[in-house]
Amino acid sequence: MALWCERGDLLLGYVLGVLVLSFLSYPVSVGGGLHPHIHLSRDPVLLMSSYAAALKMEALPETGATVLNHSMALVQRMENLMALGNASDVPLRVRTLNTEEVKVLPAHSLVLSLQSDVFRDLLLARNGSALVLGETAECAAVFDKFLRYLYCGDISVRLDQAIPLHQLATKYRVEALQLGLTQFMSQHLSSESPSGHVVGWYQYAQRIGDAPLQDSCLRYLSWNLSSVLQSAEWTSVSAALLLTLLRRSDLVVQSELELYDGLEAWAARNRPGGPTAERALEAIRYGMIPPQKLFRLQKSSPLMQKHYGAVRDLLYLAFQFHAAPPVQLAKYFEVNCSVFTPRNYLSPAWGAPWVIGSPTRDDRSFSFQTQLGPSGHDASKKVTWNALFSPRWFPLGARASYAEPGAMMPSPTDGGRPRIIVTPATSSPDFAGVSFQKTVLVMARQQGKVVVRHVYNFHQSTEEAGDFLAEADLQRRASEYLIDSALYLHVVVKPVYHTLILAKK
Ligand SMILES: *[C@@H]1O[C@H](CO)[C@@H](O)[C@H](O)[C@H]1NC(C)=O
Ligand SMILES: *[C@@H]1O[C@H](CO)[C@@H](O)[C@H](O)[C@H]1NC(C)=O
Ligand SMILES: *[C@@H]1O[C@H](CO)[C@@H](O)[C@H](O)[C@H]1NC(C)=O
Ligand SMILES: *[C@@H]1O[C@H](CO)[C@@H](O)[C@H](O)[C@H]1NC(C)=O
Ligand SMILES: *[C@@H]1O[C@H](CO)[C@@H](O)[C@H](O)[C@H]1NC(C)=O
Repeated sequence: MALWCERGDLLLGYVLGVLVLSFLSYPVSVGGGLHPHIHLSRDPVLLMSSYAAALKMEALPETGATVLNHSMALVQRMENLMALGNASDVPLRVRTLNTEEVKVLPAHSLVLSLQSDVFRDLLLARNGSALVLGETAECAAVFDKFLRYLYCGDISVRLDQAIPLHQLATKYRVEALQLGLTQFMSQHLSSESPSGHVVGWYQYAQRIGDAPLQDSCLRYLSWNLSSVLQSAEWTSVSAALLLTLLRRSDLVVQSELELYDGLEAWAARNRPGGPTAERALEAIRYGMIPPQKLFRLQKSSPLMQKHYGAVRDLLYLAFQFHAAPPVQLAKYFEVNCSVFTPRNYLSPAWGAPWVIGSPTRDDRSFSFQTQLGPSGHDASKKVTWNALFSPRWFPLGARASYAEPGAMMPSPTDGGRPRIIVTPATSSPDFAGVSFQKTVLVMARQQGKVVVRHVYNFHQSTEEAGDFLAEADLQRRASEYLIDSALYLHVVVKPVYHTLILAKK
């Protein structure tokens, strides 16, 4: 405490009051000599919230009183304190691992201990006055930024600094910063960067076991695979991530062929071993590629020629699928594999974009055509679809139960909820044995780019997805589901041959 009182000229008097207050709420033991050691709660979040509570208690104005607020000036002074190092009691010697490089930063043990119990323990155990910290080159490069955060509580982050800063926040257990950086990453997946950053973040999230961040990255990659395939980032994808992606049914791509071409480009660059190449080739859904295009792959794809043995049976199956009505095929063969399961294809044969301006105004309808099915037998037959969008729709039972006392209205607003239904304009005997799964992609703008915000699946032609736009709040002009007050949808129609896909009795 003596140290702080000597330098009281640096700080506003009331800050000392607050610090004293927060000391009082914790067991405090002041170590000998020049190094005050403060034993704080092990949980920094708890510490921060108690600290905030203490602050609030102090700052809460009495009735009729006015708050004089100089917290910005305080932050400025803390920043100067760090920059000038006045009254520093612990020099930090930041050593870059495997080099001779050492950066010396003057610091204050009180600030370090306040923010991190890892620092507190290091301070207790140190020899002499300096604290020696070994950091990787990436972490050493952002260490002063990290230290400034400990003093000032704010930080500016570039995309390429997120991982090293997160590593420092993890190493020194600064949980608020860890959490903030994880949020920063999941909110900046679509930001522009020269060589891409999402693949790197995915791999980092996997390494540290951060499942939510890993999921966000994977979903972003899956739903925007079409652009990712064109980017420099694509070839930096690891073999494991490549296989994870290829096995997903929710990939948003122009067509299966685009995905195949992406695999070819990846393989040309990464030269995978036999097992990886074969497993990747097996994950391609050949039934979704028209037969003329399959001929071309067979003759001119280096990857397929090299590993032809791995795909021979799948290609044979695909050609059988193209040769006759799929339902006929199912009469003779037991087939149960993903070869016949469509993904979310954006090309016109599979669906259509639909932009709805001012979506809360009234009901809208829209018609579009798709192929009857991807099989060579069906691809030239067309189905016309009618789509109906209602911004405020009440589920059937809801009106009745609303009348009962205490009944809850359907979410999200009292005005009903959004609904979309997609039905064929006409029926046809060709539909027998086929169910058309609809998928509605909802786009949003993030960091100036249009990205897929949400994917809704509808399993039957008459069934509504109960959660369609449930949390979208379309009433708000600034809703993150709207682009310039319009709803950007893309409807994909996926013929699913249940008799083929589901196990037969
Ligand atoms: C003081 O001002 C800062 C920034 O101007 C603000 O964030 C903070 O909430 C204010 N505190 C009080 C108690 O009004
Ligand atoms: C802090 O240190 C600098 C240089 O060491 C000195 O010029 C300045 O007056 C000091 N500031 C305070 C408030 O003591
Ligand atoms: C402190 O110094 C002693 C003896 O020189 C050494 O054994 C010990 O490992 C040092 N501890 C640290 C934390 O550097
Ligand atoms: C995300 O995907 C959508 C639809 O596939 C596309 O329009 C958009 O450009 C993509 N955005 C990015 C950033 O890749
Ligand atoms: C069909 O595939 C599903 C999922 O892959 C599996 O659970 C099921 O056992 C398979 N049925 C047959 C008959 O192979």
